[in-house]
Amino acid sequence: MLDQAVGMLPRSEVVIVDDDPEDCLWIERCLRRGSGSLLQARSANSYGDGLSLLNSRPFEGALIDLDLGAQSGVDLISELGGRSAKTPMIAVTGRSSRFMDERAAEAGAYAFLEKDYLDFDRLDRAIRYARRAHAAETHLQELAHNALQATAAKSEFLARMSHDFRTPLNAILGFAEMLESQAYGAHSEARTTEYAHYIAESGRHLLDLVNNVLSLSRIEAGRYDLKKVWLDLAEVLPPMLRLVAGTAAKKAIKVDLVLGHGGHLLLADQTALKQLVVNLLSNAVKFTPEGGRVELVTGIVDGELHVGVRDTGVGMSPAEIDIALSPFGQIRRTHQVSQEGSGLGLPIVKSLVECHGGRLVLRSRRDHGTQAILIFSRDAVSEAVSNDMSVPPQGAGQQSA
Ligand SMILES: Nc1ncnc2c1ncn2[C@@H]1O[C@H](COP(=O)(O)OP(=O)(O)OP(=O)(O)O)[C@@H](O)[C@H]1O
Ligand SMILES: [Mg+2]
Repeated sequence: MLDQAVGMLPRSEVVIVDDDPEDCLWIERCLRRGSGSLLQARSANSYGDGLSLLNSRPFEGALIDLDLGAQSGVDLISELGGRSAKTPMIAVTGRSSRFMDERAAEAGAYAFLEKDYLDFDRLDRAIRYARRAHAAETHLQELAHNALQATAAKSEFLARMSHDFRTPLNAILGFAEMLESQAYGAHSEARTTEYAHYIAESGRHLLDLVNNVLSLSRIEAGRYDLKKVWLDLAEVLPPMLRLVAGTAAKKAIKVDLVLGHGGHLLLADQTALKQLVVNLLSNAVKFTPEGGRVELVTGIVDGELHVGVRDTGVGMSPAEIDIALSPFGQIRRTHQVSQEGSGLGLPIVKSLVECHGGRLVLRSRRDHGTQAILIFSRDAVSEAVSNDMSVPPQGAGQQSA
Protein backbone atom coordinates (compact mmCIF):
# COMPACT_ATOMS: atom_id res chain seq x y z
CA MET A 1 0.00 0.00 0.00
CA LEU A 2 2.74 2.42 1.08
CA ASP A 3 4.94 1.27 -1.82
CA GLN A 4 2.06 1.94 -4.17
CA ALA A 5 1.56 5.41 -2.73
CA VAL A 6 5.28 6.16 -2.97
CA GLY A 7 5.29 4.90 -6.54
CA MET A 8 2.64 7.46 -7.43
CA LEU A 9 4.54 10.45 -6.08
CA PRO A 10 6.40 12.55 -8.67
CA ARG A 11 10.08 11.61 -8.72
CA SER A 12 12.53 14.46 -8.23
CA GLU A 13 15.07 14.85 -10.95
CA VAL A 14 18.76 15.18 -10.20
CA VAL A 15 21.16 16.23 -12.94
CA ILE A 16 24.52 14.50 -13.26
CA VAL A 17 27.12 16.40 -15.29
CA ASP A 18 30.03 14.08 -16.02
CA ASP A 19 32.03 13.62 -19.22
CA ASP A 20 32.63 9.94 -18.39
CA PRO A 21 29.46 7.94 -19.29
CA GLU A 22 30.54 5.08 -16.99
CA ASP A 23 30.79 7.41 -14.01
CA CYS A 24 27.36 8.78 -14.91
CA LEU A 25 25.92 5.27 -14.84
CA TRP A 26 27.64 4.53 -11.55
CA ILE A 27 26.21 7.65 -9.88
CA GLU A 28 22.77 6.91 -11.35
CA ARG A 29 22.96 3.39 -9.90
CA CYS A 30 23.90 4.79 -6.48
CA LEU A 31 20.90 7.10 -6.64
CA ARG A 32 18.57 4.23 -7.45
CA ARG A 33 19.95 1.94 -4.81
CA GLY A 34 18.19 3.58 -1.85
CA SER A 35 15.04 1.77 -0.82
CA GLY A 36 12.00 3.76 -2.04
CA SER A 37 14.30 6.35 -3.65
CA LEU A 38 12.32 9.16 -5.21
CA LEU A 39 15.31 10.48 -7.08
CA GLN A 40 15.53 10.18 -10.83
CA ALA A 41 18.70 10.98 -12.76
CA ARG A 42 19.21 13.09 -15.90
CA SER A 43 22.70 12.98 -17.36
CA ALA A 44 24.67 15.55 -19.32
CA ASN A 45 28.03 14.48 -20.71
CA SER A 46 29.67 17.82 -21.37
CA TYR A 47 30.09 21.30 -19.98
CA GLY A 48 27.82 22.73 -22.73
CA ASP A 49 25.05 20.14 -22.26
CA GLY A 50 25.15 20.61 -18.49
CA LEU A 51 24.95 24.39 -18.92
CA SER A 52 21.91 24.32 -21.20
CA LEU A 53 20.09 21.63 -19.18
CA LEU A 54 20.62 23.42 -15.87
CA ASN A 55 19.71 26.79 -17.37
CA SER A 56 16.46 25.39 -18.77
CA ARG A 57 14.65 24.94 -15.41
CA PRO A 58 15.20 24.16 -11.75
CA PHE A 59 16.03 20.60 -10.63
CA GLU A 60 16.16 18.95 -7.23
CA GLY A 61 19.95 19.11 -7.33
CA ALA A 62 22.95 18.85 -9.64
CA LEU A 63 26.02 16.66 -9.18
CA ILE A 64 28.82 18.29 -11.14
CA ASP A 65 32.09 16.53 -11.89
CA LEU A 66 34.92 19.00 -11.39
CA ASP A 67 36.95 17.48 -14.19
CA LEU A 68 35.02 17.88 -17.47
CA GLY A 69 37.75 17.06 -20.00
CA ALA A 70 39.35 20.29 -21.10
CA GLN A 71 36.88 22.28 -19.03
CA SER A 72 36.38 22.67 -15.33
CA GLY A 73 33.30 21.91 -13.24
CA VAL A 74 34.22 24.82 -10.95
CA ASP A 75 33.82 27.16 -13.94
CA LEU A 76 30.49 25.54 -14.79
CA ILE A 77 29.24 26.08 -11.24
CA SER A 78 30.29 29.75 -11.48
CA GLU A 79 28.77 30.24 -14.91
CA LEU A 80 25.46 28.83 -13.69
CA GLY A 81 25.40 31.51 -11.02
CA GLY A 82 26.79 29.62 -8.02
CA ARG A 83 24.45 29.91 -5.07
CA SER A 84 22.09 32.13 -7.07
CA ALA A 85 21.59 29.39 -9.68
CA LYS A 86 18.14 27.82 -10.16
CA THR A 87 19.40 24.45 -8.87
CA PRO A 88 21.54 23.69 -5.82
CA MET A 89 24.87 22.24 -6.97
CA ILE A 90 27.17 19.65 -5.44
CA ALA A 91 30.77 19.14 -6.59
CA VAL A 92 31.87 15.56 -7.32
CA THR A 93 35.39 14.46 -8.07
CA GLY A 94 37.37 11.32 -8.81
CA ARG A 95 40.71 13.00 -8.23
CA SER A 96 40.61 15.13 -5.15
CA SER A 97 43.45 17.56 -4.71
CA ARG A 98 44.35 20.08 -2.02
CA PHE A 99 41.98 23.08 -1.81
CA MET A 100 39.73 21.68 -4.56
CA ASP A 101 36.83 21.56 -2.11
CA GLU A 102 37.39 25.20 -1.17
CA ARG A 103 37.47 26.32 -4.80
CA ALA A 104 34.20 24.46 -5.44
CA ALA A 105 32.60 26.04 -2.35
CA GLU A 106 33.77 29.49 -3.43
CA ALA A 107 32.19 28.96 -6.85
CA GLY A 108 28.89 28.10 -5.14
CA ALA A 109 28.82 24.33 -4.49
CA TYR A 110 26.99 23.32 -1.31
CA ALA A 111 28.86 20.06 -0.78
CA PHE A 112 31.89 18.16 -2.04
CA LEU A 113 31.77 14.39 -2.66
CA GLU A 114 34.46 11.94 -3.74
CA LYS A 115 33.41 9.31 -6.23
CA ASP A 116 35.34 6.54 -4.43
CA TYR A 117 33.13 6.91 -1.38
CA LEU A 118 29.76 7.39 -3.07
CA ASP A 119 26.67 5.55 -1.91
CA PHE A 120 22.97 6.35 -1.81
CA ASP A 121 22.95 7.64 1.77
CA ARG A 122 25.80 10.10 1.17
CA LEU A 123 24.24 11.35 -2.08
CA ASP A 124 20.76 11.61 -0.61
CA ARG A 125 22.03 13.49 2.47
CA ALA A 126 24.11 15.89 0.38
CA ILE A 127 21.20 16.61 -1.98
CA ARG A 128 18.75 17.21 0.86
CA TYR A 129 21.22 19.46 2.68
CA ALA A 130 22.00 21.42 -0.51
CA ARG A 131 18.30 21.87 -1.26
CA ARG A 132 17.54 23.24 2.21
CA ALA A 133 20.56 25.55 2.25
CA HIS A 134 19.69 26.77 -1.26
CA ALA A 135 16.05 27.45 -0.30
CA ALA A 136 17.14 29.40 2.78
CA GLU A 137 19.66 31.37 0.76
CA THR A 138 17.14 32.15 -2.00
CA HIS A 139 14.70 33.37 0.64
CA LEU A 140 17.37 35.62 2.17
CA GLN A 141 18.28 36.99 -1.24
CA GLU A 142 14.61 37.80 -1.89
CA LEU A 143 14.33 39.57 1.46
CA ALA A 144 17.47 41.58 0.76
CA HIS A 145 16.19 42.47 -2.70
CA ASN A 146 12.79 43.57 -1.33
CA ALA A 147 14.46 45.62 1.41
CA LEU A 148 16.63 47.38 -1.18
CA GLN A 149 13.62 48.09 -3.35
CA ALA A 150 11.65 49.41 -0.38
CA THR A 151 14.53 51.72 0.57
CA ALA A 152 14.79 53.00 -2.99
CA ALA A 153 11.01 53.56 -3.14
CA LYS A 154 11.11 55.40 0.19
CA SER A 155 13.94 57.67 -0.95
CA GLU A 156 12.06 58.48 -4.15
CA PHE A 157 8.90 59.14 -2.15
CA LEU A 158 10.77 61.53 0.18
CA ALA A 159 12.39 63.34 -2.74
CA ARG A 160 9.03 63.85 -4.47
CA MET A 161 7.36 64.81 -1.21
CA SER A 162 9.99 67.49 -0.52
CA HIS A 163 9.52 68.84 -4.02
CA ASP A 164 5.73 68.97 -3.69
CA PHE A 165 5.93 70.64 -0.28
CA ARG A 166 8.34 73.27 -1.47
CA THR A 167 6.10 74.70 -4.21
CA PRO A 168 3.20 75.91 -2.00
CA LEU A 169 5.62 76.84 0.76
CA ASN A 170 7.55 79.10 -1.62
CA ALA A 171 4.28 80.74 -2.68
CA ILE A 172 3.31 81.36 0.94
CA LEU A 173 6.71 82.84 1.78
CA GLY A 174 6.84 84.92 -1.42
CA PHE A 175 3.46 86.57 -0.92
CA ALA A 176 3.99 86.99 2.83
CA GLU A 177 7.33 88.70 2.20
CA MET A 178 5.73 91.00 -0.33
CA LEU A 179 3.12 92.01 2.24
CA GLU A 180 5.82 92.39 4.87
CA SER A 181 8.15 94.55 2.81
CA GLN A 182 5.41 96.58 1.17
CA ALA A 183 7.63 96.09 -1.88
CA TYR A 184 5.67 98.40 -4.18
CA GLY A 185 4.72 100.99 -1.62
CA ALA A 186 1.67 100.57 0.52
CA HIS A 187 -0.53 97.86 -1.02
CA SER A 188 -4.03 98.63 -1.99
CA GLU A 189 -6.68 96.77 -0.08
CA ALA A 190 -7.51 94.74 -3.16
CA ARG A 191 -3.90 93.64 -3.59
CA THR A 192 -3.55 92.73 0.08
CA THR A 193 -6.71 90.62 -0.17
CA GLU A 194 -5.39 88.97 -3.31
CA TYR A 195 -2.06 88.07 -1.65
CA ALA A 196 -3.84 86.80 1.46
CA HIS A 197 -6.00 84.65 -0.83
CA TYR A 198 -2.92 83.09 -2.47
CA ILE A 199 -1.39 82.44 0.94
CA ALA A 200 -4.55 80.79 2.25
CA GLU A 201 -4.90 78.71 -0.92
CA SER A 202 -1.31 77.45 -0.74
CA GLY A 203 -1.75 76.79 2.97
CA ARG A 204 -4.85 74.66 2.30
CA HIS A 205 -3.00 72.77 -0.41
CA LEU A 206 -0.13 72.12 2.01
CA LEU A 207 -2.54 70.89 4.66
CA ASP A 208 -4.17 68.52 2.13
CA LEU A 209 -0.73 67.23 1.23
CA VAL A 210 0.22 66.60 4.85
CA ASN A 211 -3.13 64.90 5.52
CA ASN A 212 -2.76 62.70 2.45
CA VAL A 213 0.82 61.70 3.30
CA LEU A 214 -0.28 60.86 6.84
CA SER A 215 -3.25 58.86 5.53
CA LEU A 216 -1.08 56.89 3.13
CA SER A 217 1.61 56.13 5.69
CA ARG A 218 -1.01 55.11 8.26
CA ILE A 219 -2.67 52.75 5.78
CA GLU A 220 0.62 51.27 4.60
CA ALA A 221 1.87 50.77 8.15
CA GLY A 222 -1.36 48.87 8.89
CA ARG A 223 -2.35 51.48 11.47
CA TYR A 224 -5.60 52.50 9.79
CA ASP A 225 -8.22 51.36 12.24
CA LEU A 226 -11.08 49.99 10.14
CA LYS A 227 -14.47 49.85 11.81
CA LYS A 228 -16.35 47.63 9.43
CA VAL A 229 -20.14 47.61 9.45
CA TRP A 230 -22.72 46.35 6.99
CA LEU A 231 -23.52 49.32 4.77
CA ASP A 232 -26.52 49.90 2.55
CA LEU A 233 -25.04 51.54 -0.54
CA ALA A 234 -28.40 53.00 -1.59
CA GLU A 235 -28.21 55.01 1.63
CA VAL A 236 -24.52 55.92 1.90
CA LEU A 237 -23.63 56.72 -1.73
CA PRO A 238 -26.02 59.65 -2.51
CA PRO A 239 -24.47 62.02 0.11
CA MET A 240 -21.01 61.23 -1.35
CA LEU A 241 -22.25 62.20 -4.77
CA ARG A 242 -23.53 65.51 -3.43
CA LEU A 243 -20.00 66.40 -2.27
CA VAL A 244 -18.83 66.78 -5.87
CA ALA A 245 -22.11 68.16 -7.23
CA GLY A 246 -21.03 71.82 -6.83
CA THR A 247 -17.76 71.42 -8.74
CA ALA A 248 -19.49 69.30 -11.38
CA ALA A 249 -22.24 71.90 -11.85
CA LYS A 250 -19.64 74.65 -12.45
CA LYS A 251 -18.33 72.57 -15.38
CA ALA A 252 -21.82 71.55 -16.55
CA ILE A 253 -20.92 67.91 -15.91
CA LYS A 254 -23.90 65.58 -15.42
CA VAL A 255 -23.41 63.25 -12.44
CA ASP A 256 -25.60 60.14 -12.02
CA LEU A 257 -25.94 57.23 -9.63
CA VAL A 258 -26.74 53.83 -11.17
CA LEU A 259 -27.45 51.23 -8.49
CA GLY A 260 -27.30 47.70 -9.87
CA HIS A 261 -26.24 45.68 -6.81
CA GLY A 262 -29.73 44.54 -6.00
CA GLY A 263 -29.98 45.04 -2.27
CA HIS A 264 -26.71 43.41 -1.22
CA LEU A 265 -24.97 45.04 1.73
CA LEU A 266 -21.25 45.79 1.90
CA LEU A 267 -19.05 45.15 4.93
CA ALA A 268 -16.78 48.21 5.05
CA ASP A 269 -15.59 51.14 7.11
CA GLN A 270 -17.93 54.01 6.27
CA THR A 271 -15.32 56.79 6.51
CA ALA A 272 -12.91 54.78 4.38
CA LEU A 273 -15.63 54.06 1.80
CA LYS A 274 -16.34 57.78 1.62
CA GLN A 275 -12.64 58.51 1.11
CA LEU A 276 -12.52 55.85 -1.63
CA VAL A 277 -15.59 56.99 -3.53
CA VAL A 278 -15.04 60.74 -3.14
CA ASN A 279 -11.44 60.42 -4.35
CA LEU A 280 -12.61 58.62 -7.50
CA LEU A 281 -15.52 61.01 -8.06
CA SER A 282 -13.36 64.10 -7.66
CA ASN A 283 -10.83 62.68 -10.13
CA ALA A 284 -13.62 61.98 -12.61
CA VAL A 285 -14.97 65.52 -12.30
CA LYS A 286 -11.48 67.08 -12.34
CA PHE A 287 -10.32 65.24 -15.45
CA THR A 288 -13.52 65.56 -17.46
CA PRO A 289 -13.92 68.66 -19.62
CA GLU A 290 -17.02 70.87 -19.55
CA GLY A 291 -20.30 69.27 -20.56
CA GLY A 292 -19.11 65.71 -19.84
CA ARG A 293 -20.72 62.91 -17.85
CA VAL A 294 -19.77 61.07 -14.65
CA GLU A 295 -21.54 57.97 -13.33
CA LEU A 296 -21.24 56.17 -10.03
CA VAL A 297 -22.25 52.58 -10.78
CA THR A 298 -22.71 49.56 -8.51
CA GLY A 299 -23.16 45.92 -9.48
CA ILE A 300 -22.55 42.31 -8.49
CA VAL A 301 -20.15 40.35 -10.71
CA ASP A 302 -19.39 36.69 -9.82
CA GLY A 303 -20.52 37.33 -6.25
CA GLU A 304 -18.14 40.29 -5.86
CA LEU A 305 -19.41 43.81 -5.37
CA HIS A 306 -18.24 46.46 -7.84
CA VAL A 307 -18.42 50.16 -7.06
CA GLY A 308 -17.25 51.98 -10.16
CA VAL A 309 -16.85 55.57 -11.27
CA ARG A 310 -16.81 56.16 -15.00
CA ASP A 311 -16.31 59.40 -16.84
CA THR A 312 -16.14 60.77 -20.35
CA GLY A 313 -12.94 62.66 -19.59
CA VAL A 314 -9.43 62.87 -20.98
CA GLY A 315 -8.51 59.26 -20.14
CA MET A 316 -5.06 57.73 -19.77
CA SER A 317 -2.75 55.46 -21.76
CA PRO A 318 -1.56 52.21 -20.09
CA ALA A 319 1.79 53.85 -19.20
CA GLU A 320 -0.04 56.83 -17.70
CA ILE A 321 -2.15 54.50 -15.54
CA ASP A 322 1.10 53.22 -13.98
CA ILE A 323 2.16 56.81 -13.26
CA ALA A 324 -1.26 57.64 -11.82
CA LEU A 325 -1.03 54.75 -9.35
CA SER A 326 2.39 55.77 -8.01
CA PRO A 327 2.61 58.24 -5.11
CA PHE A 328 2.73 61.85 -6.38
CA GLY A 329 2.24 60.53 -9.91
CA GLN A 330 0.47 63.15 -12.00
CA ILE A 331 0.21 63.18 -15.75
CA ARG A 332 1.36 66.43 -17.25
CA ARG A 333 -1.20 67.66 -19.72
CA THR A 334 -0.98 70.86 -21.63
CA HIS A 335 -4.61 71.85 -21.90
CA GLN A 336 -8.21 71.10 -20.97
CA VAL A 337 -7.71 69.92 -17.38
CA SER A 338 -6.33 71.43 -14.20
CA GLN A 339 -3.27 70.07 -12.43
CA GLU A 340 -4.58 70.65 -8.92
CA GLY A 341 -3.92 68.03 -6.29
CA SER A 342 -0.99 66.14 -4.91
CA GLY A 343 -1.07 62.88 -6.86
CA LEU A 344 -1.76 60.88 -3.71
CA GLY A 345 -5.48 60.20 -4.24
CA LEU A 346 -5.18 56.99 -6.27
CA PRO A 347 -2.35 55.42 -4.20
CA ILE A 348 -4.55 56.03 -1.13
CA VAL A 349 -7.57 54.48 -2.87
CA LYS A 350 -5.52 51.44 -3.92
CA SER A 351 -4.05 50.83 -0.44
CA LEU A 352 -7.36 51.50 1.31
CA VAL A 353 -9.41 49.12 -0.83
CA GLU A 354 -6.70 46.49 -0.35
CA CYS A 355 -7.06 46.97 3.44
CA HIS A 356 -10.66 45.85 2.89
CA GLY A 357 -9.45 42.72 1.12
CA GLY A 358 -10.56 44.25 -2.19
CA ARG A 359 -8.78 45.68 -5.23
CA LEU A 360 -8.77 48.69 -7.53
CA VAL A 361 -9.09 48.21 -11.28
CA LEU A 362 -8.44 51.11 -13.64
CA ARG A 363 -9.58 50.96 -17.25
CA SER A 364 -8.91 53.91 -19.44
CA ARG A 365 -8.13 55.10 -22.94
CA ARG A 366 -6.71 58.43 -23.94
CA ASP A 367 -9.60 60.76 -24.90
CA HIS A 368 -12.15 58.02 -24.25
CA GLY A 369 -12.74 58.39 -20.53
CA THR A 370 -11.85 56.35 -17.49
CA GLN A 371 -13.45 53.66 -15.41
CA ALA A 372 -12.13 53.17 -11.86
CA ILE A 373 -13.67 50.16 -10.11
CA LEU A 374 -13.47 49.20 -6.45
CA ILE A 375 -13.98 45.44 -6.21
CA PHE A 376 -14.97 43.97 -2.86
CA SER A 377 -14.64 40.21 -2.42
CA ARG A 378 -17.54 37.85 -1.71
CA ASP A 379 -16.91 37.69 2.04
CA ALA A 380 -17.55 41.45 2.30
CA VAL A 381 -20.89 41.13 0.51
CA SER A 382 -24.11 39.97 2.13
CA GLU A 383 -26.88 37.97 0.51
CA ALA A 384 -29.36 40.25 -1.22
CA VAL A 385 -31.97 41.61 1.14
CA SER A 386 -35.41 42.92 0.32
CA ASN A 387 -35.67 46.68 0.08
CA ASP A 388 -37.68 47.07 3.29
CA MET A 389 -34.70 45.50 5.14
CA SER A 390 -37.06 43.50 7.34
CA VAL A 391 -34.71 40.51 7.13
CA PRO A 392 -31.29 41.76 8.14
CA PRO A 393 -28.31 39.73 6.94
CA GLN A 394 -26.20 37.79 9.36
CA GLY A 395 -24.35 40.27 11.54
CA ALA A 396 -26.03 43.27 9.94
CA GLY A 397 -25.50 46.48 11.84
CA GLN A 398 -22.78 44.91 13.95
CA GLN A 399 -19.21 46.01 13.88
CA SER A 400 -16.52 43.57 13.03
CA ALA A 401 -12.77 43.85 13.27
N1 LIG B 1 -10.55 59.87 -14.04
C1 LIG B 1 -9.35 60.25 -14.50
N2 LIG B 1 -9.20 60.62 -15.82
C2 LIG B 1 -7.99 60.99 -16.30
N3 LIG B 1 -6.85 61.03 -15.57
C3 LIG B 1 -6.94 60.69 -14.28
C4 LIG B 1 -8.18 60.26 -13.68
N4 LIG B 1 -7.95 59.96 -12.39
C5 LIG B 1 -6.64 60.19 -12.18
N5 LIG B 1 -6.02 60.63 -13.30
C6 LIG B 1 -4.58 60.96 -13.47
O1 LIG B 1 -3.87 60.34 -12.45
C7 LIG B 1 -3.17 61.29 -11.65
C8 LIG B 1 -3.12 60.84 -10.22
O2 LIG B 1 -4.44 60.86 -9.65
P1 LIG B 1 -4.55 61.08 -8.10
O3 LIG B 1 -5.98 61.04 -7.71
O4 LIG B 1 -3.62 60.13 -7.44
O5 LIG B 1 -3.93 62.52 -7.86
P2 LIG B 1 -4.55 63.94 -8.12
O6 LIG B 1 -6.01 63.85 -8.39
O7 LIG B 1 -3.70 64.63 -9.14
O8 LIG B 1 -4.28 64.65 -6.71
P3 LIG B 1 -5.05 64.33 -5.32
O9 LIG B 1 -5.98 63.20 -5.57
O10 LIG B 1 -3.94 63.96 -4.40
O11 LIG B 1 -5.72 65.59 -4.97
C9 LIG B 1 -3.92 62.59 -11.88
O12 LIG B 1 -3.09 63.72 -11.66
C10 LIG B 1 -4.34 62.45 -13.33
O13 LIG B 1 -3.28 62.83 -14.17
MG1 LIG C 1 -7.23 62.68 -7.09
